[in-house]
Amino acid sequence: MCGIFGCILRHGNAAPLIHAALKRLEYRGYDSVGEATITDGKINIKKDQGKIDEVHAKLNLDDLPGNIGVGHTRWATHGAPLQVNAHPHVDCTGQLAVIHNGIIENFSELKGELETRGHVFKSRTDTEVIPHLIEDYLKSNPSMSFEDAVHEAVKRLVGSYSIAVLNAREPEKIVCARNESPLVIGVNQDAVYFASDIPAFLPLTNRVIIVDDGEILTLSLKGVDIKKIADLKPVQREPKIIDWTPEMAVKKGYPHFMIKEIHEQPESLRNALRAQEHYVDLMSTFLDRAREVFLVACGTSYHACLAASYMFSKLAFLATYPVFASEFVEQHGKSVNIESTILAVSQSGETADTLASVNAARQRAATVLGLTNVIGSTLTRVARVYIGQQSGPEIGVAATKTFTAQLSVLAHIALRLAKKRGKVSQDEMDYISERLSKLPDIVETVIQTQEEKVKQIAKKYKDAKAFFFLGRGISTATAYEGRLKLMEIAYAPAIAFPAGESKHGPISLVESGFPVIFICAKDETHRTLIGNIMEMKARGASIIAVVEEGDEEIKVLADDYVEVPKGIPEVLSPIPYAVPLQMLAYYVSVERGYNPDMPRNLAKSVTVK
Ligand code: F6R
Repeated sequence: MCGIFGCILRHGNAAPLIHAALKRLEYRGYDSVGEATITDGKINIKKDQGKIDEVHAKLNLDDLPGNIGVGHTRWATHGAPLQVNAHPHVDCTGQLAVIHNGIIENFSELKGELETRGHVFKSRTDTEVIPHLIEDYLKSNPSMSFEDAVHEAVKRLVGSYSIAVLNAREPEKIVCARNESPLVIGVNQDAVYFASDIPAFLPLTNRVIIVDDGEILTLSLKGVDIKKIADLKPVQREPKIIDWTPEMAVKKGYPHFMIKEIHEQPESLRNALRAQEHYVDLMSTFLDRAREVFLVACGTSYHACLAASYMFSKLAFLATYPVFASEFVEQHGKSVNIESTILAVSQSGETADTLASVNAARQRAATVLGLTNVIGSTLTRVARVYIGQQSGPEIGVAATKTFTAQLSVLAHIALRLAKKRGKVSQDEMDYISERLSKLPDIVETVIQTQEEKVKQIAKKYKDAKAFFFLGRGISTATAYEGRLKLMEIAYAPAIAFPAGESKHGPISLVESGFPVIFICAKDETHRTLIGNIMEMKARGASIIAVVEEGDEEIKVLADDYVEVPKGIPEVLSPIPYAVPLQMLAYYVSVERGYNPDMPRNLAKSVTVK
């Protein structure tokens, strides 16, 4: 996710201010940090891996000279969190320095092209192509201006970015550009600032210009010049006064991180869908060759694995075994072998049980694959191949945006495997791929249209003693996840089962008014699920249904319902159907007077067995 900041000051040194601003942005990423300033026609850089305080203790970030500079706090996406991969990145001459938040999808081809023209790369990042591209335009067109060279370079980039470029030859300006990654400008009489988020400069100014996608800007003490990247048409935009407290600013005005992160899902899904094709392909090759495949994880990540087992089965006709990491060694530790493949899924990449499973599997020569949000975590170091889900830091203890991102990467892998195995028709695959690419918008619609309704449902049922969550097929995984969210942050006893299991025991708990939440994706299980709803209704249960828009059959049976847009393929349904359940857990927790961000007895990363 990364945090970026920069400033041009009328008086004084930029470095201490950059350092302080990066500290305020540390919630956006914290595996490495760097700053660059300009003095005497030269770029000065300090950067290293580690948290800001660690790097500052080692390098003293405050003593870089100069009134103009940029800084970056990193959340690794491409390239491990090492000194060489920390931003800023420079061109071959060291005259240009770039910081970047986002993902450049076509960096491999740009890098190849630039290398054939003699550019030498130092890092493994996607970002480094940007200074080299700008350098290339300036070198081949000596009359081209710095701004035009940045503009030409930006036009070549595919993906998400907010970038800032320093040029040692033009020490009075910073050129920035934005596409799908946040960028805001702050102004006052004595300075101009840019940042990925307002908290970075809020103690310095509350006069803010929000930059839109597709804009390129030149910042100087004379003002802020904004143009459209598409046609260089000038944009007029006056600063607005923001009256947030620093605490509100960090949460972007939301009362808790959890609800902020629920709302971030359209963006985190877009980022997850940018997973590098090469690694998706490699992973699907390993899965294809394996004699047996275990999907190993804990908690919410286990629910992603459970859903993935349906995806692999239905799309690629591959049987996989989802296993709780805390049970893996006992259950399969002796039988796993060189022909087994373990796909470990862990947001943190540090969960003790997941790592113990991975170690046991490696000792028996099995292949280990990893899906994680933290590049540089132990999982990325021990996996043969890993994919970073690129969700950025998740601060709320309850996993939300990282769960839906895991699911979308797993769906991507399942589709790739399906293609390899040739089991599903091209038309069906094209349809599912198209729907997968639309999920960020679909999830946005769910949040926008259903949040109020979910709030009302939370109010109505907040005092219920216990809850049931039921689904069939892949919706079983969604039901388990909805139940875990509600239990962990609202302290509500809750039970989840495949709906077909309910009459083998759990139904005896049901009495008048008992809330039963049904996940009713419109798939092959729909008809049978209606029977399960009838059974519960007959015993006086209150039915809360998550249904497809226009599913009148279930809507008339339900006491309350929330709707998800039509046309979601079965294998993708857990992504949008989980979102109302996350919101339900959040609002029940708030209604009960708890802090959903910090549930008692829980930690974000469980590093003990
Ligand atoms: C629940 C939650 C936990 C984690 C579990 C695994 O909201 O966050 O259940 O999913 O502790 O953590 P990771 O994915 O980091 O291995």
